[in-house]
Amino acid sequence: MNAPSPQHIDVSNPRLYREDTWRPHFAALRRDDPVHRHEASPYGPYWSVTRYADIMKVELDHRTYSSASELGGIQIADQPKGQELPNFIRMDPPRHTAQRKTVAPIVAPSNLTNMEALIRERTASVLDGLPRNQPVDWVDRVSTELTAMMLATLFDFPQAERRKLTHWSDVAIANVEAEDAVVKSDVERLAELTVMAETMAVLWKERAAQPPKFDLISMMAHSEATQNMPLHEFIGTFGLLIVGGNDTTRNSMTGGLMAVQDNPGELDKVKADGRLLDSLVSEIIRFQTPVIHMRRTATCDSELAGRSIRKGDKVVMWYVSGNRDEVAIEEPERFVVGRPRARQHLSFGAGIHRCVGDRLAEMQLKILWEEILKRDLEFEIAGPPVRLYSNFIRGIRSLPVVIHA
Ligand code: HEM
Repeated sequence: MNAPSPQHIDVSNPRLYREDTWRPHFAALRRDDPVHRHEASPYGPYWSVTRYADIMKVELDHRTYSSASELGGIQIADQPKGQELPNFIRMDPPRHTAQRKTVAPIVAPSNLTNMEALIRERTASVLDGLPRNQPVDWVDRVSTELTAMMLATLFDFPQAERRKLTHWSDVAIANVEAEDAVVKSDVERLAELTVMAETMAVLWKERAAQPPKFDLISMMAHSEATQNMPLHEFIGTFGLLIVGGNDTTRNSMTGGLMAVQDNPGELDKVKADGRLLDSLVSEIIRFQTPVIHMRRTATCDSELAGRSIRKGDKVVMWYVSGNRDEVAIEEPERFVVGRPRARQHLSFGAGIHRCVGDRLAEMQLKILWEEILKRDLEFEIAGPPVRLYSNFIRGIRSLPVVIHA
């Protein structure tokens, strides 16, 4: 039975995230109409799922709520017709399962252990190389730098050209309507991503001709599930891996610094008891919620929180809201180190598409904070952040920070 719902603003408006004014709108939705039908939006009608428990229901029922590219994929905005870029996050089983299995070993615990020393060495050198007593852009000098180096390692991509990976990631997620968008149209986006594909295809051919090695390109080139991808799927798959490994971790590195600066007592807890580092990392990832939403498409009629969802409907899970749901998380608006069940946030999603790189991201953040604490760095945020105009990635484009000597 569908109850009449109160008027609510369209939470798909990217301006809400650029201006960071989304919180009260989601609080109202969770309170009044947690599975809310927005009849009119630039993306057509859609359902907003805003409570933790309902988001979990959608996540865990991939048969009813599909991720398939041909039904529209995983963002509220449908992909431009004829320019769809399928990849395994936009697939249902069995293809999803086979492709995910191909790349998962790169982020398996044994390989994370192998990469730890390298990540630490790079983190130390980036922190030691920052100028003192003058503003630096934390996003560029730390968050982007560290994630670009990591991504280049995962692909065995030339380190000297690692910023190309950052650029393609920015291109892949750009809202073409933003004033400061790196590309201004979907045609321009596809052209840039085609350059990415051509660059990757050269490495792919080399690795396909060599014995398998332990990098993402070689692993995909030698796997039956991925070795014969059509061009658009090839572009889509590299886009997924680049955005997955880059944007999200990058924004947690910046959002974390802001959260800690606003709540100095919380870092003091970690200084007093190093065992709280894991909790700090999880709380940073929850608090930032780098992915704002994921979308599904209903494959059949169903019911969610008493609302009737029809086959073909767009169902949007707002992670930013689920992570602020006061029913599931105590005082969710506070940044608290040492929360019970700190890792049970929604930032990595859940179910069959749960982030494959979650442990890597956590390790990168943990090492960053360990190295910051070792140096006892004192920060001052010297100006407001510039936030991304996007309803998909909760991104921070720049943040001036002074490190006191
Ligand atoms: C703090 C950092 C990160 C966050 C917040 C994050 C968030 C997410 C989310 C929300 C999803 C979709 C989950 C769902 O639909 O239920 C996802 C999937 C994915 N992520 Fe991450 N991610 C992060 C880091 C990474 C890293 C470091 C990598 C790569 C090394 C990565 C690669 C992927 C891939 C390949 C998928 C698709 C998984 C699938 O469809 O089975 N992510 N991530």
